[in-house]
Amino acid sequence: MMSLPSCGRILSSLLLLSITPALAIWPVPEKISSGDKTLWIGEDIHITYNGQRLPWNINSPAKCKGFSSAEIVKGAVSRTLKAILEDAFVPWMLYDRLALEETEPSASAEKTFITSITIAQNGTEKSSKSLIGDIDESYKLSVSGVGEVKIHAVSSIGVLRALESFSQLFFQHSEGGVYTTMAPVDITDKPQYEHRGILFDVSRSYFSVESIYRTIDAMAWNKLNRLHIHATDSQSWPLEIPAMPELSGKGSYAKGKTYTPEDVESIQIYALQRGVQVIFEIDTPGHFGVAALSHPEVVAAWQATPWQNYCAQPPCGQLKLNESKVDKFLDTLMDDFLPRTNAYSSYHHIGGDEVNFNAIALDETVGTNDSTVIQPLLQDFIDKHHGRVRKHGLTPIVWEEFPLHYNVTMGKDVVVQSWLGDEAIRDLVSRGFKTIVSNYNFWYLDCGRGHWLNFDNGPAFQTFYPFNDWCSPAKGWRLIYSYDPRAGLTEEEAKLVIGGEVAAWSESIDETIIDSILWPRSSALAELLWSGRTDAAGQNRSQIDAAPRLSEFRERMVARGVMSAPIYMPFCTQAMNATACEFVM
Ligand SMILES: *[C@@H]1O[C@H](CO)[C@@H](O)[C@H](O)[C@H]1NC(C)=O
Ligand SMILES: *[C@@H]1O[C@H](CO)[C@@H](O)[C@H](O)[C@H]1NC(C)=O
Ligand SMILES: *[C@@H]1O[C@H](CO)[C@@H](O)[C@H](O)[C@H]1NC(C)=O
Ligand SMILES: *[C@@H]1O[C@H](CO)[C@@H](O)[C@H](O)[C@H]1NC(C)=O
Ligand SMILES: *[C@@H]1O[C@H](CO)[C@@H](O)[C@H](O)[C@H]1NC(C)=O
Ligand SMILES: *[C@@H]1O[C@H](CO)[C@@H](O)[C@H](O)[C@H]1NC(C)=O
Repeated sequence: MMSLPSCGRILSSLLLLSITPALAIWPVPEKISSGDKTLWIGEDIHITYNGQRLPWNINSPAKCKGFSSAEIVKGAVSRTLKAILEDAFVPWMLYDRLALEETEPSASAEKTFITSITIAQNGTEKSSKSLIGDIDESYKLSVSGVGEVKIHAVSSIGVLRALESFSQLFFQHSEGGVYTTMAPVDITDKPQYEHRGILFDVSRSYFSVESIYRTIDAMAWNKLNRLHIHATDSQSWPLEIPAMPELSGKGSYAKGKTYTPEDVESIQIYALQRGVQVIFEIDTPGHFGVAALSHPEVVAAWQATPWQNYCAQPPCGQLKLNESKVDKFLDTLMDDFLPRTNAYSSYHHIGGDEVNFNAIALDETVGTNDSTVIQPLLQDFIDKHHGRVRKHGLTPIVWEEFPLHYNVTMGKDVVVQSWLGDEAIRDLVSRGFKTIVSNYNFWYLDCGRGHWLNFDNGPAFQTFYPFNDWCSPAKGWRLIYSYDPRAGLTEEEAKLVIGGEVAAWSESIDETIIDSILWPRSSALAELLWSGRTDAAGQNRSQIDAAPRLSEFRERMVARGVMSAPIYMPFCTQAMNATACEFVM
């Protein structure tokens, strides 16, 4: 169990100049203008929130479970000041070769400091419920030439987004002190998509709660707002269910490699206080094998071989489809789990991908792979299971196979997550479903790193040489950034694409490399979904514009403790001149 982290340690167009770093707010705001005046920042700042003095202290962590607007803002202000004052970086890699000292502002000249931050929020939040659903994340930020900062937002999350943009104006000076050279600054900003997320698979590999917190922090810096936790699968069941302790008791990888109810609550609170809503997925009826260790009566085809005939990867195992014990099992499971998430989330993801019909043939309650027999059973399954989700006040999310491959009908409240490509997206929106896009051809982060299965010498070796994984090649940030999830849709259909998620399936990923798997590539998604595929002039956003800003933002993430992979070498980042590493045709 982790202790609850502090809620505050409290109590236009871009002008690329070779001598100054780009105005690298990531994701790029809707409207921004800036000057070239230098301002310094220290601890002596008068900060007010709706007219009241806001106490902040970057060095006194406090436990907090609160969701009032003031608490959210207090926490955000303290984190922002810590990021600016303690986690800044000296941007030698953004200036010309050996030119840092001569291009930084003079440290000995008279300094103008940031004197005040005046925060005005005209909406209010009272409980966790007001931080989920359709939140207004818009904000206005201005920094005057004499160091007065003003923030306006409707919600506390809007304030948080403004503070994040503010923090990205500053650099560490090589002789000490923290400055921006961009004053005065004016920003008006809001997101283009409501659902901007990461799929985090904690079942194939176990991830510590600390690594989940670290990911949530980085998501907030990127203005991402949905963390989809794929919590269970056939390989391991790390989620503790007090009403059914045997599930993780027998299905986790090891003692302690579990998420307690306190962990689940802490993760959701930590996330909400950073403008991130957690969505848990308990995958059903496929991807359910490991539950057989504690509940063999509800699982068919557990560890069936050869596995490739009965599932997509070992070990196999699906919920039985015509077994009344499954209904009781799922009632107990959902009645335990969903009341622990519905104060913090609008959704529960029921999975629904890759149901294997041959595994159903091994299910003695059905005994055939005939789809005309199976289809009504799947319809019955989804009706009942969505009913359990709705009973607890949540909206079901389901993978695309249920509506598109199994020919079941579903309520129009259901949100569908699509992974198989553009045709599926078109099909879903034409049927009127709200759709979350995770097209594996663009947004799967685990792809292209070589296979994780072993192939013995012989036919398998020959067939699979050179051992690429199924979704090779790797999806670099440029590819992720190039994809328009609404391409080719009518305006009405496009509105149904509510956003997207990059996916980090964890068959060969654990927390030693998760930072560099997620970052900076999730940042590419973050800008695409916050700022949109096209710029103010209606042109596709360009790598030449994005690369210098992303390079700078990557340095910020590293300085704040998230080990993002580099964009490219300093030869390309220096002088913030992306054309030095451009391929011109
Ligand atoms: C960027 O680099 C190219 C080639 O190295 C140079 O011609 C160009 O002037 C530079 N642009 C800026 C804005 O520094
Ligand atoms: C809050 O301000 C925004 C714009 O600044 C405005 O659209 C909205 O109506 C205001 N809301 C309230 C409750 O005053
Ligand atoms: C489901 O099980 C019942 C017995 O419990 C059986 O009568 C029925 O034929 C089964 N349905 C299918 C589709 O196999
Ligand atoms: C059903 O099983 C038969 C024989 O086991 C197999 O040939 C067929 O491909 C299977 N059909 C499906 C839809 O899996
Ligand atoms: C899908 O189900 C509907 C009834 O719900 C049926 O009319 C239709 O033929 C089915 N289509 C396929 C391809 O199974
Ligand atoms: C803009 O990007 C889309 C893909 O997102 C592509 O289909 C289209 O051709 C691009 N347009 C231009 C003018 O490059």
